[in-house]
Amino acid sequence: MANKTLALSFIALLFIATGCTRTATSPAGFRLPDGDPANGRVVFVAMQCHQCHTIAGENFPEIPNADPPYVQLGGTVSRVKTYGELVSAIINPSHKLADGYAAEQVSDNGVSKMPVYNDYMTVRELTDLVVYLQPNYNVVVPQHHYPPYY
Ligand code: HEC
Repeated sequence: MANKTLALSFIALLFIATGCTRTATSPAGFRLPDGDPANGRVVFVAMQCHQCHTIAGENFPEIPNADPPYVQLGGTVSRVKTYGELVSAIINPSHKLADGYAAEQVSDNGVSKMPVYNDYMTVRELTDLVVYLQPNYNVVVPQHHYPPYY
């Protein structure tokens, strides 16, 4: 009996130590269906995402009188943009504002200037957009040049 209790507390401790506790909001088990990158580009233009975004190496039709807060998507980054980060950036833009911009340039009182599309963007459009955007991120690990010791 004492052994069993000991074993159970050990297992419980192991879960806590390894962070395996599943909370109700845990993303564990989350998986969206695969998307179609070619259609993602079509959606990007149709929804006029290029009103505010540029993508390195891409040319989009011009939008007359656009005065956007241009935020570059893709390009060289030091850390991979994960699927989860891209999905969150699209469906919950204020959750984490894009790095490298002054807050007042891209947000008002902590709320992203990006529109929320959730009431009319389909899940298919979302998954297509994400697989279209993700390969545009080119991960380059920063090279640190340490001065030699003398
Ligand atoms: C009216 C301007 C505007 C439009 C239109 C717009 N966005 Fe944005 N978007 C922003 C701004 C400003 C940011 C930076 C603040 C933030 O992270 O929410 C941003 C951030 C993002 C990011 C995160 C970038 C990063 O480096 O973290 C993604 C991805 C993105 N937008 C995708 C889209 C897609 C896809 C569409 C079209 C469905 C779209 N945006 C339409 C303004 C816009």
